[in-house]
Amino acid sequence: MLCVEAKSLSKSYGNVTAVDSIDLSVESGKIFGFLGPNGAGKTTTIKLLTTLILPTSGTINILGMDAARYPLKVRKKIGVVLQQPSYEPNLTVERSLEKYGMMWDVDSKTRRDRVEELLAAFDLQEIRKKKNDDISIGQRRRVQVAREFMHDMDLLFLDEPTVGLDPSARRGLLDYIKGKVRDGLTIFFTTHILEEAEYLCDEIAIINHGKIIAVDTPDELKNKFGREKTIKVHIGKAEDVGAILQGVGKYEVSHDEGTVITLHSADSEQALVKILQVLNANNIAVEDLSVVPTSLEEIFLTVVKNSNNNFGGKLASNSSSDK
Ligand SMILES: Nc1ncnc2c1ncn2[C@@H]1O[C@H](COP(=O)(O)OP(=O)(O)OP(=O)(O)O)[C@@H](O)[C@H]1O
Ligand SMILES: [Mg+2]
Repeated sequence: MLCVEAKSLSKSYGNVTAVDSIDLSVESGKIFGFLGPNGAGKTTTIKLLTTLILPTSGTINILGMDAARYPLKVRKKIGVVLQQPSYEPNLTVERSLEKYGMMWDVDSKTRRDRVEELLAAFDLQEIRKKKNDDISIGQRRRVQVAREFMHDMDLLFLDEPTVGLDPSARRGLLDYIKGKVRDGLTIFFTTHILEEAEYLCDEIAIINHGKIIAVDTPDELKNKFGREKTIKVHIGKAEDVGAILQGVGKYEVSHDEGTVITLHSADSEQALVKILQVLNANNIAVEDLSVVPTSLEEIFLTVVKNSNNNFGGKLASNSSSDK
């Protein structure tokens, strides 16, 4: 079953098209990752899908309901944690959870159980009696995410839930989410941390300038865009290799105490042989070299950069050695 289905969805603010005719479908029981650079349209999309704002055009179906016709019914079935921090300064951590449960009409026994479960799961027990005003930013974010789990829902939208969390809190949250998905919850979430998307997501969509530029499983994205490997050749001395590397393909050069040549190639063996031959012919000694599969992060950068070029290159990378 499709949990989220959006067709030709657009949202404009004056002459800014924040979301530009996107189609989305999310199957139930899956974790859908929504990635894109700042200002790409992620938060706007979440606000549209959760009925917080109205689209300029297009249709949204959530859990089988037309969101434009039944916004209240939709809201009853979903949860959302917005990117914007939100908390009541004078409430204690445990009261924040408790109150959220009351707002959602959760019965008192279930409420008590869930408060305890969430305080433990989000490592908030020690600060349960502290006021939101008196806890750290990361702790506040944990409370903001935790309280959303006080109520029953079929679909949860999370807009950068892990921002400000330390590595162990982040891993804790991701694993808690995974557990909920095993129990049947569907998740739509945004992040800038690619490892996170890879760890969690069944499917990933990349959005840029309001348009979706790629949708696939993390593995398929790697297959499609990342068949190439990344080759790094390290030279001990600072060398001006620009001239001698003419013709070996597209590469980047950076300098640390020596020189690093980075090359992305689908035919990494041949590219490597070529570079080594050229360096050898010029008596340049190689200190170290490595060949690694391209990471999701590099794929993300490549896909976004290519799409920027299609937008007239107005945000194209200023990498000096790109040919
Ligand atoms: N209320 C608004 N009024 C006018 N323009 C807006 C409004 N909200 C968003 N925008 C614009 O819409 C575009 C998309 O913004 P959005 O917040 O959806 O980006 P995002 O992908 O969530 O970015 P980030 O990664 O920084 O959170 C941006 O150009 C933004 O300036
Ligand atoms: Mg955002």
